[in-house]
Amino acid sequence: MADTKYMVAVVGAGPAGLYAARKLAEGRARVVLFNRDIKPGGLAEYGIYWDKFKMKQGLRNQFRQILANPLIDYYGNVTVCCGGNIVLEDLLESGFQAVLVTTGAQGTKWLRMPGETLPGVYHAKNIVFHYNLLPPFSEKKYLLGKRVAVVGAGNVMMDIAHYLIRDCKVDEVIAVVRRGPAEVKFTRKEMESVASNLDLAELDAEFSRIASIMHAAGQNPVAAKAAFTDVLPKALASISQTRFRFEFLATPVRIMGDWMSGVTGLKVEENILAAVDGNVKARGTGNTRHIESDTVIFAIGDTVDRDFCVPIYNDAYMTVKEPHFPVDNLSYEAFNPDSNQPIERVFLAGWARQASTGLVGYARRDGENAAEAMLAFLQSQSPMRDLDNVVEKFEQRLEETHQRLVEKSHLEKLEKVEKAEAQKRGVEEFKFPTNDEMFTVMGY
Ligand SMILES: Cc1cc2nc3c(=O)[nH]c(=O)nc-3n(C[C@H](O)[C@H](O)[C@H](O)COP(=O)(O)OP(=O)(O)OC[C@H]3O[C@@H](n4cnc5c(N)ncnc54)[C@H](O)[C@@H]3O)c2cc1C
Ligand SMILES: NC(=O)c1ccc[n+]([C@@H]2O[C@H](COP(=O)([O-])OP(=O)(O)OC[C@H]3O[C@@H](n4cnc5c(N)ncnc54)[C@H](OP(=O)(O)O)[C@@H]3O)[C@@H](O)[C@H]2O)c1
Repeated sequence: MADTKYMVAVVGAGPAGLYAARKLAEGRARVVLFNRDIKPGGLAEYGIYWDKFKMKQGLRNQFRQILANPLIDYYGNVTVCCGGNIVLEDLLESGFQAVLVTTGAQGTKWLRMPGETLPGVYHAKNIVFHYNLLPPFSEKKYLLGKRVAVVGAGNVMMDIAHYLIRDCKVDEVIAVVRRGPAEVKFTRKEMESVASNLDLAELDAEFSRIASIMHAAGQNPVAAKAAFTDVLPKALASISQTRFRFEFLATPVRIMGDWMSGVTGLKVEENILAAVDGNVKARGTGNTRHIESDTVIFAIGDTVDRDFCVPIYNDAYMTVKEPHFPVDNLSYEAFNPDSNQPIERVFLAGWARQASTGLVGYARRDGENAAEAMLAFLQSQSPMRDLDNVVEKFEQRLEETHQRLVEKSHLEKLEKVEKAEAQKRGVEEFKFPTNDEMFTVMGY
């Protein structure tokens, strides 16, 4: 390690953290990665749809190469947060010159509406973690009924619809969308997986119902509808009887039901469309209607974890407005609004900096940008001398927490066993669904 000059910690080994670690190591920094999950990859491992094997394998290969760098240490099964194994201050006080926070948007966005805590109401993240086998979500039972309302119109809504239609084969999936068909955010590619289950008669009826509102907003319902139906020739063949339909211009205001019988429906306020500062916004009319459903899943984006003890604004941690080390005109430096001061030596990237925004490529670029900002900061500091001593002392500190630490050698063992298990079973991939099983094969 003679060639290294700096010592930094990266909290979170999703795409943002991993690509940042690579860039930091290229800049002659020794990097210690801390990750809550045993495995690296974040949502690339536990968010991307379970059957996108090729994409996931490609990303895993890249992550494996990054972790093979001797300048990068990995400690999985370590949660850095208030009340966690390690708090942010521990890192700052024990010799790391700077800390990059790339913990993603792993908190839940609550809308605080009546009925939100009833059984049968879920947040997409938990379902996604369940089908991607992230412990402990992998082991939880989710009471998915027959008529499922999914709130939101992004790609996560589409992934959930995909799961409900092709894996669970429920009777009906209703996408509840607060704006109109011209404002949906999902991509055609994701629509292709479920388009053959679209109830086309219902789609026609829904477009007729909202046509006058779209016209009033200067929109063309025929063109907007084509964006849905143009996908049909490329749609995957249906493998279930599920009816898939949309309810546009509907903002949930109450989840109906009770604790004994669960969810019975969703009360929504009807909206019109209004142009505000060049954007199309939903504006409530005060009229409400009832959508029958026995399950409600919110796919409305997530927020960062409140337990990290870094202030939050707009669902993400805050950055300083006038950064010392901007990259692409963006700020990666953490800010504390209570003291109105930067949080010295703490940087942010990926979904921790901007919650639920963009694909893996975005997280990668953001991580790399943050690394560039950190390297510029580090160059303004004196190089560290006793790097090994810092790592050693910190390893001791980690051992004191009595946590089962997952290092690179453990990950290699786990991968080998999971690969062999997949071959034995003749499946594309195999994952142990519990931490205990993973620890056993890792030799704990
Ligand atoms: C359902 C879903 C499907 C998606 N599908 C695609 C797709 O098909 N293609 C695509 O390109 N993009 C997809 N994305 C987007 C992509 O996953 C994200 O852009 C990307 O993963 C964000 O990276 P990140 O590193 O910022 O955060 P994350 O991927 O969330 O990584 C955060 C990491 O931090 C760790 N962590 C969290 N809290 C702590 C803590 N307190 N201490 C230590 N570690 C912590 C977590 O364990 C995790 O490893 C999808 C996203 C979702 C939600
Ligand atoms: N296959 C893929 O490539 C894939 C899969 C999953 C996720 N992703 C990516 O991951 C990112 C996050 O996806 P996402 O679907 O979570 O977010 P998203 O694309 O921002 O969509 C969120 C949806 O929720 C709605 N919404 C937000 N707050 C709401 C509220 N309070 N009440 C009602 N509706 C509300 C939004 O409506 P408004 O538009 O009106 O705000 C929007 O339709 C995106 O960049 C996405 O592309 C990609």
